[in-house]
Amino acid sequence: RRTGTADFYRITMRRTGVEILPGTRTDALTYNGSFTGPTIRARTGRTTVVQQINALDMPTSVHLHGGNNPVAHDGGMMDTIAPGGKRTYVYENEQPGATLWTHDHAHHMESEHVYRGLSGLYLLRDPAEDGLGLPAGKYDVPLVLRDAQFDGNAQLVYTMDDAENRTTILVNGRPWPYMKVEARKYRFRLVNSCNLRIFVLALSDGSATQHPVRQIGTDGGLLAAPAETPVLVLSPGERIDFVVDFSKYAPGTRLTLANMLGPGPTELVGQVMRFDVGERTADSSRVPDTLATLPALPKPTVERSFELSMDEPGSGGHQAYINGRTFDPDRIDTHIEWGSTEVWTVTNKSATVPHNFHTHLVQFRILERDGQPPYPAETGWKDTVLLFPGQTAKLQLTFDSHRGVYPYHCHMIDHSAMGMMAQMKIA
Ligand code: C2O
Ligand code: CU
Ligand code: CU
Repeated sequence: RRTGTADFYRITMRRTGVEILPGTRTDALTYNGSFTGPTIRARTGRTTVVQQINALDMPTSVHLHGGNNPVAHDGGMMDTIAPGGKRTYVYENEQPGATLWTHDHAHHMESEHVYRGLSGLYLLRDPAEDGLGLPAGKYDVPLVLRDAQFDGNAQLVYTMDDAENRTTILVNGRPWPYMKVEARKYRFRLVNSCNLRIFVLALSDGSATQHPVRQIGTDGGLLAAPAETPVLVLSPGERIDFVVDFSKYAPGTRLTLANMLGPGPTELVGQVMRFDVGERTADSSRVPDTLATLPALPKPTVERSFELSMDEPGSGGHQAYINGRTFDPDRIDTHIEWGSTEVWTVTNKSATVPHNFHTHLVQFRILERDGQPPYPAETGWKDTVLLFPGQTAKLQLTFDSHRGVYPYHCHMIDHSAMGMMAQMKIA
């Protein structure tokens, strides 16, 4: 519903049978019966009000990932909606346009809840983008990626921290789909809503030729300028906006969005979806050389380090840590002065396991990766950064919006459920 001042949504969380694998019913946890969830469309500067009704038999919490919201509307781990209860979240949308998403965050249950379906898109459009001429309308297509394991009865199998067997790749809730595209430009918004899987994606026509795409946005909005990139690297929680010009291909060409990273057999996890190029159509869209103005980075006054680690596979342990401690909801790990700008050095100490690092409330900028400047495609606003084993990233963050206690965590959410999460207090 749309009124003069705000947009209203009412969403019911319920257990429903949904069609994921053709011709079968899968029991899922859904927002409004849809897998993956209904899309909430919001506009920068205009309030969105979402009433969430919990018709499930367990507590839930709805977090707007990437959103800049007061603690009471952030959907924290302990701030849950009881079974049968409801909750109204108000989002002011005072931030640049971006591809955001909502997902469950109830402490210790978030990983299984998200896996079973409690995840949805939140598209924040910014009037500042209107004049850019980027592909829009039906040429602006969200692609929510995730993996899943199904048993012989098409039911989802959830085993904590088991990425190897989640070998069915779903795009917008369907396995390995194809899309008929016109031979013109499209904007795609990728979201990785997997619990653990990292995608390294490239557009492929089956030959060895590379087909670079133009990345235009990151987690928190548009890049300053488009970045041509041969691969799109997307870890859980991250988003990438990119443009493909299909008019470069002859009608009838089939392109796959190929995934070059495991785990799992290449014939299953190596292909994400296919694009079948059709006839050339009129296209007045464009990708301008300047997309957004990113503010100059203020001078930081505080430096901190964070080390991510977990009990190594095979060690028998099943705990995960930030700076040697597992999550404790009663502990504040980091005290931050409101208004300050800080530099955080985050290191993945695991020998074999990739991690990433997500902050609530603030979008950050990546200053360095292992002492080198960040890749052009990650120079925009980020709220989640991937760290392969041994990698270090330097992030700059300014805490000048809402006060209160917010978490930061690994967004491989099986890991955060194992304790790789901590809390900061901004006061
Ligand atoms: Cu999507 Cu606490 O995160
Ligand atoms: Cu978040
Ligand atoms: Cu992790």
